[in-house]
Amino acid sequence: MNDQINKNDLSHVIEADRAHLWHHLIQHKPFETVDPRIIVEGRGMRVWDAKGKEHLDAVSGGVWTVNVGYGRESIAKAVYDQLVKMNYFSNSAGSIPGSLFAEKLISKMPGMSRVYYSNSGSEANEKVYKMVRQISARHHGGRKYKILYRDRDYHGTTITALSSAGQPQRAMQYGPFTPGFVEVPHCLEYRKQWDVADYGVRAADAIEEVILREGPDTVGALVLEPITAGGGVIVPPEGYWTRVQEICRKYNVLLHIDEVVCGVGRTGTWFGYQHYGVQPDFVTMAKGVASGYAAISCTVTTEAVFDMFKDDPTDPMSYFRDISTFGGCTAGPAAALENMRIIEDEGLLDNTNAMGARLVDNLWALADKHKVIGDVRGKGLFCGAELVADRASREPADEKKVQAVVADCMAQGVIIGATNRSLPGFNNTLCLSPALIATPDDIDAITSAIDGALGRVFG
Ligand SMILES: Cc1ncc(COP(=O)(O)O)c(C=O)c1O
Repeated sequence: MNDQINKNDLSHVIEADRAHLWHHLIQHKPFETVDPRIIVEGRGMRVWDAKGKEHLDAVSGGVWTVNVGYGRESIAKAVYDQLVKMNYFSNSAGSIPGSLFAEKLISKMPGMSRVYYSNSGSEANEKVYKMVRQISARHHGGRKYKILYRDRDYHGTTITALSSAGQPQRAMQYGPFTPGFVEVPHCLEYRKQWDVADYGVRAADAIEEVILREGPDTVGALVLEPITAGGGVIVPPEGYWTRVQEICRKYNVLLHIDEVVCGVGRTGTWFGYQHYGVQPDFVTMAKGVASGYAAISCTVTTEAVFDMFKDDPTDPMSYFRDISTFGGCTAGPAAALENMRIIEDEGLLDNTNAMGARLVDNLWALADKHKVIGDVRGKGLFCGAELVADRASREPADEKKVQAVVADCMAQGVIIGATNRSLPGFNNTLCLSPALIATPDDIDAITSAIDGALGRVFG
């Protein structure tokens, strides 16, 4: 820990925060009596707060972002060098890191071809929604405008992104929403909706049922997370993705995979969809692209999609009439290039697979001891443990107790997450997404903290 932090009195910073900051996703009333938490420094898997307390971060910056860990001087240096040379020009012109990162990214995504830069996951997804609407307008007489999204999935915070939210508590009180978004059922087998053997295929068939109900000539696209994140870490059952692809092809529905969480190594492959052999039309990504060292998101399309926007050069409306001002910032792709180099050179995909297996094994071992663990799910360093009041009935654990487990871990100096005001009655899954550099000792320390917390909270 940097001695500076102990020496410096940060009480002014805390008061400035209390007086003027509006934090994300948190109620502020408690800050009248409790200090807001301020994170001052990070190294590897660990962060230190304003009181000098060390924390092991099992959620990569709170929201599964800092994939290569904290304090990476080579990324800071790459960004510095780029900024002093050329910090910004509107993306109607290219840049050196913008072109080089696009080339590198596409080399990891066979079948994909074009990269459109913006700043957040929500924005990257909105780009796709606009592209789908424009394709409908230009190529389907405006009819194929509907976009299907899945119960429990999340695609961002703006009003239109929330129009595709399968998480009612995220969307609640922010309507009216953008029309043309239609929900399909989730695929979580632990919360069965059909009593069948081939659950994955059945859950995908439910998408076909919605397409037929809505009319295939009205449905332009389907957006899915490869593995649902904030909706409870849902790894799709066997057979799901293959059937989804077949259905999309059958009805000419474009497939948009939201890799904002899973992208760039989180699940042990470059992209989550690559576990399942599917070929998307659109892929969006944000959080891990530059591990939070700079804001960057990407909307990646096939060349076939791109071609639909240059079909008539004589028509002044025949192109994607969209701009993201900060999509021209060079810090993002400069950081992203170095981020990807680190993942490759340090073998972090292999580490993610090995440490992810250890994390899941450890959690199942805890399930032997703590009856409150109903299910453990995960791929790579992206895991969830669903807590239940009763194993037989699968009644979800009391949300306050789930939050108490998170708070107990925090008191022990381990930061974990939980589904949070997303799904009424089902905010009962502990979420873990350590950096891809996690060691066996880190993984064991995380599960040992959870062990202690479960014992204290649930007995
Ligand atoms: C799957 C998914 N898509 C999109 C987003 C939105 O990303 P952002 O917060 O960068 O707008 C999130 C954020 O958590 C997410 O989990």
